[in-house]
Amino acid sequence: MVAYSQKVMDHFVNPRNVGEIADADGVGTVGNPVCGDMMTFYIKVADGRLSDIKFKTFGCGAAIAVSSMVSEMAMGKTLEEGKHITNKMVADELEGLPPNKMHCSNLGADALRAAIEDYERKQEGLT
Ligand code: FES
Repeated sequence: MVAYSQKVMDHFVNPRNVGEIADADGVGTVGNPVCGDMMTFYIKVADGRLSDIKFKTFGCGAAIAVSSMVSEMAMGKTLEEGKHITNKMVADELEGLPPNKMHCSNLGADALRAAIEDYERKQEGLT
């Protein structure tokens, strides 16, 4: 039996910000090469900040907890701050993940960063 922290269980059982933003400003999808699980982040940007974040995760419980935590950590942050959230910061914030589940934390920060980069690419196209 894998031992999960209380925080992981909380975010798995009651994930925050699940869903999709139809008119998202940026969308990022990443897949985990280890297990094939997938995660998509949708962001809205206002005044240079992440004003709304939603995600859809087709993955294990740890991946769902990671996405939920990333969305909470990044909400209201500037784009730069959002980009600097690392997988390790997310795992730490979740009070750790079992060693064989650390790979699951790789998706969260990467998917958020991909969504921010998608937004930035679109902005460049507009200028
Ligand atoms: Fe695939 Fe956790 S087993 S992300």
